[in-house]
Amino acid sequence: MTIQPYGGVLVNREASSREADDLRAAAGGMPSVQISPWTLSDLYLIAVGGLSPLEGFMDEASYRGVLDEMKLPGGLPWSIPVVLPVTGEEAEQLAVGQPAALYAPDGKLAAVVDVTDIFDRDREAEAEAVFRTPDQAHPGVAAMYRMGHKCVAGPIRYVYDEDITGFPEDHLTPSETRAAFAERGWETVVAFQTRNPIHRAHEYLQKCALEVVDGLLVHPLVGETKSDDIPADVRMECYRVILDRYYPADRVLLSVLPAAMRYAGPREAIFHSIMRRNYGCTHFIVGRDHAGVGDYYGTYDAQRIFDEVDMDLLGIEPMKFEHSFYCLRTKQMATSKTSPSSMEERLFLSGTKVREMLSRGESPPEEFTRPEIAAILMKSYQGQVSAD
Ligand code: ADX
Repeated sequence: MTIQPYGGVLVNREASSREADDLRAAAGGMPSVQISPWTLSDLYLIAVGGLSPLEGFMDEASYRGVLDEMKLPGGLPWSIPVVLPVTGEEAEQLAVGQPAALYAPDGKLAAVVDVTDIFDRDREAEAEAVFRTPDQAHPGVAAMYRMGHKCVAGPIRYVYDEDITGFPEDHLTPSETRAAFAERGWETVVAFQTRNPIHRAHEYLQKCALEVVDGLLVHPLVGETKSDDIPADVRMECYRVILDRYYPADRVLLSVLPAAMRYAGPREAIFHSIMRRNYGCTHFIVGRDHAGVGDYYGTYDAQRIFDEVDMDLLGIEPMKFEHSFYCLRTKQMATSKTSPSSMEERLFLSGTKVREMLSRGESPPEEFTRPEIAAILMKSYQGQVSAD
């Protein structure tokens, strides 16, 4: 039994090659919008069904429902607005009922949107509801304020034929991951979201989960991240090496998720799990401070938010893990649920601390990260320093 896509049907808004030719020919006569890499990634995810049941960008009623009630108009839980931001100037050329041409950063036509609504983005309300802070130093809030303040809604038809992920050889669409799981005979699949190299804590959570389910989808997010996060190409090298050396090949699949990182903590944990359901996963790992940044969210806020949604509708099961650490007494990874040690015997290391160590030229210890991964990270940081 495979898990149904969210809303029941896997959306496909990719134009056939004939339809794409027609749209390209017609686009010259339409008002145009220049979209950012962020919007291109949202557009792509809508097109391939990663954001099912969305068939396009949200209108004001959906946007308000998401902010105020964390629901789509039909009642399905939904936590993060998916909008097409445009400038006031761009919005003036657009009209409800008319199509508009969306151009990718490389100047090629990416999609056509049939405009159904144009509205003002309520940035203050969105910051409070989605990011739980008005602070413009928050990277997700800052990114929102950098975008145009008008939103354009409507179903899309996607025509862009370039890879948007940067890793075409490690990229499967939702229908492809679903087919891959079926081929392997996996009925239960846990997805692991990450924007970091896989460290020992991540490995521990994944392997605990693998004791319970049939397969693991390592699904690193490779869309826009903040500038001090480790670049996706370095992370991909880390993933390939660690999976090859430390994981059972027949129980793990690596594929990238071309989504932009919002750093919205709890709200993003729900959003991440919805996308993974569309990719065919039945379970989703939520550890400590999932999708968090700085001190904006409590350690387990991203787990507690699942208590606020209708879990029957959400349909994908969160696997919640406590903050894991290396236990010096038992000499293994553990959490407070499994370790007898005192706080002094617990080695907690965060991605932030590792980045600090690397920038000082120190190699992260084996208790924190596998030596092969430490070597890749050291090499990448040294390259950065000598290039500066
Ligand atoms: S995230 O922004 O994509 O969530 P990250 O790549 O650091 O960041 O984390 C991936 C997943 O592992 C998240 O579910 C996160 O909560 C979890 N996680 C990371 N480090 C730990 C840890 N030390 N203990 C428990 N869970 C962790």
